[in-house]
Amino acid sequence: MRNKGIDSVDEYKIARVLLTEAQIRDRIQEMGAALADRYRGKNPILVTLLKGGFIFLADLSRAMRIPHEVEFMLVRSYEGESSTGSVQIMQDLKQNIEGRHVILVEDIVDTGLTLAYIREHLILRHPASLIVCSLLDKEAARTEEVDVEMVGFRIENEFVVGFGLDYNQLYRNLPYLAVIDPGQT
Ligand code: IMP
Repeated sequence: MRNKGIDSVDEYKIARVLLTEAQIRDRIQEMGAALADRYRGKNPILVTLLKGGFIFLADLSRAMRIPHEVEFMLVRSYEGESSTGSVQIMQDLKQNIEGRHVILVEDIVDTGLTLAYIREHLILRHPASLIVCSLLDKEAARTEEVDVEMVGFRIENEFVVGFGLDYNQLYRNLPYLAVIDPGQT
């Protein structure tokens, strides 16, 4: 019997693999270990922006071998390949973060618009500390000045998919990071 799930992934048009599964896995292990050292005894909260952050969060959380909590926000800022220029919070945090150590887990920082907005939004709730941990950083695309304390990989200014990142809601399930075929977009 044919497996429909695998067939549908085979239909993705990948131009080039940017980061392999092994590269991503190794880097996330390092990041998790560094965060565990820094936050030992502090029971931090990992706040993730959905949908893009869900796969990175799942791996980072398991690589971070200290007690911690996870929380989710649903944020929308992109359609297709371009930023809509505004950030909408579709679902806010359910938990009080006052006095807590917060690690904002992002998939990618591009213009910095989303991050600048969400960072400000969280600061108003008086966490004990707040840092940003992003798997990817496209520094060349930055229009907002934002601090990103921990970065997995700095990448060129090109549109990437996989590992949670989408193009029109597809490609999130690719286990690696890729550049899509220009004919796709
Ligand atoms: P920013 O507000 O421009 O920094 O964009 C942040 C959000 O846009 C990320 O959290 C992603 O969801 C999305 N995004 C930015 N660049 C890419 C990309 O290359 N591929 C897929 N999504 C992206």
